[in-house]
Amino acid sequence: MLNEQTIRIIKSTVPVLESKGTEVTKRFYEILFTEHPELLNVFNHANQKQGRQQTALANAVYAAAVHIDNLAAILPVVKQIGHKHRSLGIKPEHYPIVGRTLLTAMREVLGEAATDEVLQAWETAYGIIADAFIGVEAEMYTQAERQAGGWEGFRAFRVERKQKESSVITSFYLVPLDGGAIATFEPGQYVSVKPEMPGETYTHIRQYSLSDAPGKPYYRISVKREDGAPDRPAGKVSVFLHEHVNEGDTLWLTAPAGDFTLDTSDSRPVVLLSGGVGLTPLLSMLKTLGETTPDRQVTFIHAALSGETHAMRAEVEELARRYPGFSYYFCYQSPTAADREERTFHKEGYIDLEWLQSVVPSPDAAFYFCGPVPFMKTVNRMLQSWGVRKEDARYEFFGPSGSLEEA
Ligand code: HEM
Repeated sequence: MLNEQTIRIIKSTVPVLESKGTEVTKRFYEILFTEHPELLNVFNHANQKQGRQQTALANAVYAAAVHIDNLAAILPVVKQIGHKHRSLGIKPEHYPIVGRTLLTAMREVLGEAATDEVLQAWETAYGIIADAFIGVEAEMYTQAERQAGGWEGFRAFRVERKQKESSVITSFYLVPLDGGAIATFEPGQYVSVKPEMPGETYTHIRQYSLSDAPGKPYYRISVKREDGAPDRPAGKVSVFLHEHVNEGDTLWLTAPAGDFTLDTSDSRPVVLLSGGVGLTPLLSMLKTLGETTPDRQVTFIHAALSGETHAMRAEVEELARRYPGFSYYFCYQSPTAADREERTFHKEGYIDLEWLQSVVPSPDAAFYFCGPVPFMKTVNRMLQSWGVRKEDARYEFFGPSGSLEEA
């Protein structure tokens, strides 16, 4: 445990970390990858370029500093990050590397504010924070390996089926090459996927939500092809999967992970809200609800650009035919002429609170949402202003976690 003096020093650095936290972590990554280029095999280079990972790490370090005398308060965050770390294969021996690098970056960026006393206090605090992560992750490793069909590290899977779902989303049905069983998972969880990409200096790992219900002989991921835009680079892995990975090819997967999962102990109505490819974890939840509690009231709301980019539409319609408690609504931002003719959508434009209240009877429900960050901010703001309890509004970021609060 930290002594009071150390806690006092750590807390005294909170204001400077607040203002310079991102700068520290940016410098941290520069040093980390210069001294340990092998770690470029695990980190997502696109997240680095966009600065999202820097912000996520800065937030985590800052949160740890604020709660240094009560780390239990940030245990849910530690677990969420722990799932990601476990999924990527981060091990205890990596922590001292990160700790040393973080201190060097702090010394450089904070300048005079980083006195020996401050650095000493942070070294001690980092040790405690790292131990908390290592402990949580050790349990996750044990669980992932020991469960039936579980495994350690990356396991080879064959693409059994490749299925185009929309102009931008394609599903891959994956079965283990060794022919063994596969671990079950909780709907909403993801897997880390490592394709074999010829000509690349480093390996590239990405997380994709499992889009089918558990209990099948395969895992299904549904991948959006991320073409580049002026504000972001093209998705190296997603484009590779779409263009070069075909039936019969191999992908390497770690066991399912993630804490954005369906609470099956709750029997209240469920509202699943997704934007774009954010539908994948919610579709897994929807299918699981159908298989396990078909009478439960479920509203599935999906926002897409238009019918062309709308994936797995027929699957949702089929579920609604089969299960009496299900209703679904499709919202298109810019419907095509064909969409209008075939009346394939229920709302044009963005989802707003008035419309939401017209299709969801009460805020006393379990809400789950996932989609692009602006979509999530809008949904979060709507749910808050409707009086939905914080614990009833669960969400998942694709990519490094951020904050919805500034919405
Ligand atoms: C992801 C914090 C230690 C490697 C993350 C994220 C946070 C974080 C906040 C983002 C989680 C998300 O995506 O939602 C921390 C903290 C650490 C720590 C506070 C120390 C106490 C480590 C270590 C390694 C590592 C030792 C290994 C060298 C990664 C990687 C990702 C990640 C590869 C995924 C980033 C990406 O997609 O590029 N970590 N981490 N972390 N962390 Fe850590």
